[in-house]
Amino acid sequence: MPIANGDSNTNGATVNRQVDTLDWRKAVEVLQEYDARDGLDVYSLLDGKKNGALTYNDFLVLPGYIGFAANEVTLDSPVTKRISLKTPLLSSPMDTVTEENMAIHMALLGGLGVIHNNCSADDQADMVRKVKRYENGFISEPVVLSPKTTVGEAKELRDRWGFGGFPVTETGKLRSKLIGIITTRDIQFHPRPDDPVTEVMSKDLITAPAGTTLQEANAVLRDSRKGKLPIVDGNGNLISLLSRSDLLKNLNFPLASKMPQSKQLIAAAAIGTRPDDKNRLQKLVDAGLDVVILDSSQGNSMYMIEMVKYTKEKYPQVDVIAGNVVTREQAASLIAAGADGLRIGMGSGSACITQEVMAVGRPQAAAVFSVASFAAKFGVPCIADGGIQNIGHIVKGLAMGASTVMMGGLLAGTTESPGTSFVNREGKLVKAYRGMGSIDAMEDKKAGGGAKDSKAQNAGTARYFSEGDRLLVAQGVSGAVLDRGSVTKFVPYLLAGLQHSLQDIGCKSLVELREEVINGTVRFELRTVSAQAEGNVHGLDSFDKKLYA
Ligand code: IMP
Repeated sequence: MPIANGDSNTNGATVNRQVDTLDWRKAVEVLQEYDARDGLDVYSLLDGKKNGALTYNDFLVLPGYIGFAANEVTLDSPVTKRISLKTPLLSSPMDTVTEENMAIHMALLGGLGVIHNNCSADDQADMVRKVKRYENGFISEPVVLSPKTTVGEAKELRDRWGFGGFPVTETGKLRSKLIGIITTRDIQFHPRPDDPVTEVMSKDLITAPAGTTLQEANAVLRDSRKGKLPIVDGNGNLISLLSRSDLLKNLNFPLASKMPQSKQLIAAAAIGTRPDDKNRLQKLVDAGLDVVILDSSQGNSMYMIEMVKYTKEKYPQVDVIAGNVVTREQAASLIAAGADGLRIGMGSGSACITQEVMAVGRPQAAAVFSVASFAAKFGVPCIADGGIQNIGHIVKGLAMGASTVMMGGLLAGTTESPGTSFVNREGKLVKAYRGMGSIDAMEDKKAGGGAKDSKAQNAGTARYFSEGDRLLVAQGVSGAVLDRGSVTKFVPYLLAGLQHSLQDIGCKSLVELREEVINGTVRFELRTVSAQAEGNVHGLDSFDKKLYA
């Protein structure tokens, strides 16, 4: 791309140097020298006086130079001062998004799932414990049958779960004596559905002791040619189960977020800032918590600052993410208090009506850039929280300086979120999703429940209401999102998309992206309303929007 003598730059100056090379960087340097670079640098883009406060749909990133393959792009990024993730994605602490199953899978995929606190402290601690105890390949909560379960019931369970191998214990529960195992073959052609499973189960059991490693268990499974391997303690009680098919699927999580010493998955959970939350925190720490998110919709408060200081002092081993914030002033308080990470966003969530009701908040791109560029000076990583509807939004959040991105609505429709999918009135498969400030969620808090219908007494956060409130003022809505299948497919799709996007931008890593945004190499363009329309599918009579295959 030689730049010809006499070309004019955008400022009317004349470029008088001949570049007789096709090297992209050199060409860019010359353009820079003559102040003739195309597009806007991030500061001009986010100049609020000129452009107003922008959010993700208001701008685009201009393409750079592709000098590497998309799969060479690395996405490692810090979530706190001490902890880095290989996948810069988090699931929100919401009761329709993150319980143990989501937390385990997000961590296996290299991200982090933040367990919600709309339940009792004991229930939440239990979930943290399950994340910490999770061993890849071992099923820690298998479906267990009792001696009284009938063959007919076992067949129903097989149809519901899609597999037919169940251990049978004396009480029908885990941690009780294992007495047999049934397989699809045992029940398939059995003529009397009312017979108990004890009639057909196999009692000739091959088991492995607690503490068996995956490799050892794998070898036993291979030699025994069985589909399931029960793991038992010294008294013959069932502890967990290993399944041959799961083993093949599960072994492959090379990005998994693990603590370096223990090699256990990283566990993160949210708490509020009320005095009661200190007891909750103690239980979570006892359960092995690594990262605590102090959850408040307006994080610049004396309660938050006190809680950051308290946590840092009492539990130095736990990383503290404070928030939410959208301004530098808010961020400054929390950084000064000692926060290891910040969460940015107010009113941008898909189920959120905060900006409408409270008249406070900030468009998300402006908020992320303002806070993240400030926090970077103190080495404090930021999470862009809320408003993510597609891969493009993730890229833009990261380009604005966030180290990671948090999603609620986008992950609520996956198999790993709490609850089950249902068919709505239009015949679409959907899953419930609600803001934590919706009346539904707040009433559950008051009642001591949560989406999981916990019977707890000591529930919930004060994110959106205080104990003394006589009237609940909603800051969120409750609804449903489309079913998306498993995060084990969806998150890899997001990651592959991110790698392709960074390749187009010309950055090989997120570190490079952040640097090149700040030094002006990565350029942007504002998007008018008609440009937005042009950038979406248009002019088609109908179309099928399949996102990945
Ligand atoms: P989403 O990914 O756009 O659905 O946004 C998720 C984020 O919305 C969460 O991580 C919270 O920060 C925020 N949020 C959750 N519930 C509410 C609410 O009821 N009102 C306002 N914001 C909420």
